[in-house]
Amino acid sequence: AVQRTFSILKPDVTRRNLTGAVNARIEAAGLRIIAQKRVHMTRAQAETFYGVHRERPFFGELVEMMTAAPVVVQVLEGEDAILAYRAVMGATNPEKADAGTIRKDFAISMGENSVHGSDAPETAAQEIAQWFAGNEIVG
Ligand code: CMP
Repeated sequence: AVQRTFSILKPDVTRRNLTGAVNARIEAAGLRIIAQKRVHMTRAQAETFYGVHRERPFFGELVEMMTAAPVVVQVLEGEDAILAYRAVMGATNPEKADAGTIRKDFAISMGENSVHGSDAPETAAQEIAQWFAGNEIVG
């Protein structure tokens, strides 16, 4: 079924001027970018967004990284968009990511792994609602 997912192009992407290159991969995978904006996350926004990881040892580093430079937040739409995007993103650890994936080709490390994509319909809805008003999403 046609589905929506939430995506972030992380600071390592914006810093290296790779926004268009990553968007080309997204569109080549058949996903439509139906909402998009560039934002510089505040610490509070990053802590809320990654709240599920609050107890992890890398949480502080993660919040630092996500607030160090602008990101691009997006809503992607397509057939089975959540799984389709995760397939084109590749594994969290870029060394383990399959050939041809965004993380294999662009990510720097486990932390600076270029992109985020929702892992389930409930989290997708929650993440989209944190960043976009209904009228900013144009499907
Ligand atoms: P993301 O899909 O955005 O979800 C959680 C993020 O935490 C993940 O991508 C990475 O950027 C980061 N992350 C996950 N594991 C580690 C780790 N071991 N060390 C540092 N950062 C990590």
